Amino acid sequence: MDRIFIEGIAHGGMGIGRINGKITFIHNALPEEIVFAEIIDDKKDFSIAKAVKFEKTSKHRVEPKCEYYEKCGGCDFQHIAYDYQLKLKADILRSIFKRIAKIDIGVDDIEVAASKDIFHYRRRVKFQCVGKRWGLFQKGSRKPVVVEHCKIADKAINEFISSNDCINKEIVLSDDNVVNKKESVLNLSDVVDNLYLIYEYGSFVQVNRDINLKMVKTIVDSIRQKKVNKVFDFFGGIGNLSIPLAAYGINVVSFDSSKSALDSFNRNTKRLKLTNTAKSIRKNLTKPFNIDIEPPDCVILDPPRAGAKSVIEYIDRSKPKYVLYVSCEPSTLARDLIILKDSYIIDKVTLFDMFPQTHHFETLVELKLD
Ligand SMILES: C[S@@+](CC[C@H](N)C(=O)[O-])C[C@H]1O[C@@H](n2cnc3c(N)ncnc32)[C@H](O)[C@@H]1O
Repeated sequence: MDRIFIEGIAHGGMGIGRINGKITFIHNALPEEIVFAEIIDDKKDFSIAKAVKFEKTSKHRVEPKCEYYEKCGGCDFQHIAYDYQLKLKADILRSIFKRIAKIDIGVDDIEVAASKDIFHYRRRVKFQCVGKRWGLFQKGSRKPVVVEHCKIADKAINEFISSNDCINKEIVLSDDNVVNKKESVLNLSDVVDNLYLIYEYGSFVQVNRDINLKMVKTIVDSIRQKKVNKVFDFFGGIGNLSIPLAAYGINVVSFDSSKSALDSFNRNTKRLKLTNTAKSIRKNLTKPFNIDIEPPDCVILDPPRAGAKSVIEYIDRSKPKYVLYVSCEPSTLARDLIILKDSYIIDKVTLFDMFPQTHHFETLVELKLD
């Protein structure tokens, strides 16, 4: 076993240290801890190890609340005090921006939006069935571990799994507090008075209600201040970001590849009498993006983990004055910013803690043409 001083934290939540000078990523180790670790995977340029004994533990280490934490792959930050989870996420974001995009963001340049609920915040959970019992994937494996409850799932989802046999699908909690409706409700009335969207089961919806509202409000307020005429919302889904903008009279065109998301979008704009300001177009955005519409003066993009190479190329060609990039994967965000940083300056970076108790988070980067 090797004795290691933990120098920092890597994307993915592992501690960073060195064994005989070789970079080692250590599971379950926090900055400034001294651990004894066993190597579990020795690669050419780095090793992966597991902390087995602690000589010095971090003052930010706490007892995980969940009995399945050791095995279940759902959470990986439960052993860290919440304030420190936020600090580590900001450190991870800063170091990824520097390493991949050569962009320096100061400690105070990231605004951090904490989650109101740090447990029981998820309104959407994908379970795996083990016979009739409910399961979640184990850490680093596609094998499920049987669970009777989940500390990050909403309490109504926990009630549902405790009184029903497993059904092999995602459990979604509608904002009217009913589980697994064919059509759920998304309550955005904190952003626009009385704004409710209806969406079909299977469409993407942001998992954390409080953080989603904070994120939508930040984006809507920012765009309203800019006095733009037209916005393109790439990967717009059911209209979480663009329908509130349309409700404030801003022209939006939303692009997404999902038929169910676009059906929900169109039904909502019709119901809300917003068809003059909000349009949707079905597009596979992994393909090169071309469209016969005048480019907008503002673009929002909120891609899946793979990032948005084609959309970035379109932005680079059409040069909208403002770009608001929402990302759940900082490494592809940084990669995409390499192209934009020649013509745009970063106005503001906000870290939204959509996923407490895990190393994941959302980032909003607001850019303006230089
Ligand atoms: C992170 S979600 C964002 C949705 C929306 N902005 C929101 O806040 O709810 C990503 C969206 O990208 C869409 N998507 C995934 N792959 C796509 C592709 N290749 N082309 C277009 N849209 C895609 C999904 O349907 C989903 O709606």
